[in-house]
Amino acid sequence: MAVKKVLRMGDPKLLQVAEPVAKFNTRALSTLVNDLLDTMAKQEGAGLAAPQIGVSKRVVVFGLAANPRYPDEEPIPTTVLINPVLDPLDEQMEAGWEGCLSVPGLRGEVLRYTHIRYSGFDQFGGKVEREVCGFHARVVQHECDHLDGILYPQRMTNMRAFGFEEELEQAAEAENRS
Ligand code: NI
Repeated sequence: MAVKKVLRMGDPKLLQVAEPVAKFNTRALSTLVNDLLDTMAKQEGAGLAAPQIGVSKRVVVFGLAANPRYPDEEPIPTTVLINPVLDPLDEQMEAGWEGCLSVPGLRGEVLRYTHIRYSGFDQFGGKVEREVCGFHARVVQHECDHLDGILYPQRMTNMRAFGFEEELEQAAEAENRS
């Protein structure tokens, strides 16, 4: 268990397609999962994918319990999701702000499916399957994109809705006052 360095955009490892996990319930997999959970907690992220700590495996973790980075969002149970499969449940998409520990300090607006089903496995090989919507669905889509070498700026269609957190917060406060 350890807090790992999070790779930043520009590192070619973030652009690789990660390999599926072949063996479950191993020491190596449990170490990877614990490193991801420790690093996510330390950085106060809502999710983290193995490629972000330099491991090209299809493993993501996510979860949100009263996260200071996301004060307005519903909690998400802490989840380990391996070899994930995502299916949109309908065509509906919505725009929302995202950040990424690999793109520190910035936020951008991204279109994501509103309702999805996801499935995969935990580190012991147990089946994970859920139908979710809203921010939970957004976080899973964002994390699973990392497994295909996709960072959220690559999904953006409106580059005017992209900026530094501090400036965006100041702008939102000014907007609320007026
Ligand atoms: Ni990310």
